Amino acid sequence: MSDPAQLIQKIRAAFAPCTLGEWPTPLEQAPALARAVGLAELAVKREDRSASSYGGNKVRGLEFLFAGAAPGTTFVTVGGTGSTHCLATAVHAPKALGRAVVAQFPQPETPLARAVAAACAVHAALVVRSRTRGTLPVALLEAWRRARAFGPRRWIPGGGAHPRAVVGHFLAGLELALQVGSPPDLIVLPLGSGGTAAGLALAVAQLEWRTKVIAVRVAPLIVANRWRVARLARGARRLLARRGVPLPAPRFPRILDGMGRGYGYPSPDGERARALAADHGLTLDPTYGAKAFAALVQRGGRDMQRVVFWHTFALP
Ligand SMILES: Cc1ncc(COP(=O)(O)O)c(C=O)c1O
Repeated sequence: MSDPAQLIQKIRAAFAPCTLGEWPTPLEQAPALARAVGLAELAVKREDRSASSYGGNKVRGLEFLFAGAAPGTTFVTVGGTGSTHCLATAVHAPKALGRAVVAQFPQPETPLARAVAAACAVHAALVVRSRTRGTLPVALLEAWRRARAFGPRRWIPGGGAHPRAVVGHFLAGLELALQVGSPPDLIVLPLGSGGTAAGLALAVAQLEWRTKVIAVRVAPLIVANRWRVARLARGARRLLARRGVPLPAPRFPRILDGMGRGYGYPSPDGERARALAADHGLTLDPTYGAKAFAALVQRGGRDMQRVVFWHTFALP
């Protein structure tokens, strides 16, 4: 296994990603919250603090998705009205000398989803909203067509789920290795479009960790599934191999269903977990973080005592 710090440098040199975030994101111990959940040790990987302009896990991927874009590029992407991926694309595109055009489908309105939608409307050059989820392709075509007026376009898949973005999430796993004394027993994260989980699947294999990874599915199976995580991880592995960074086969996470009634609908367990986290100063969102944290609360310590929780949501 190569030294994680050297590997990070080598990969950044090979891919020349944009610099949008501030790395490493902090790893914070949460001893009181650990006790409340019944764990010996709980550390929170603060991906929410990845950038002061607007953080969250999506910044990792965008650094690689924006790389090499000509100045003036319009990044066209898609997501729910409360999508932090859309907001992160819109906030960070100007740093790559570009702009964002987004197509959005309606999702359940929570105060946080509304705040994200409002911020996205401020930062994006154009937002095209569909009336229903079913008519999203029409909104997407319109967004793509209207983006042409701004100049060159680049498509960014929903959630930033692309093998190039997975390389960024892989670096997050390597970064974790530089922050812990020994591998944690368990990493818990939310599973949406799969890039974050795919990156960690590659990282735990590369680090030769026995750490168990639990990805809590918060989106419909058609979006969030093992097949997609595998496809993304294998794609990233091929990209890395082509740049002279061969990796072992990924070790896939266990996927738990935490969606409840549907994507974006707060769940009773999630809201209880969110309140508990808030009592300890941690702001989780109902769509992703709360449901993932609820799975950890339900699981408690059992055989796994040293846990890292992947905190992905940043407040606008
Ligand atoms: C706040 C937040 N957490 C977690 C995720 C899930 O990450 P991924 O799509 O890489 O599975 C998302 C995806 O949009 C997100 O916005």
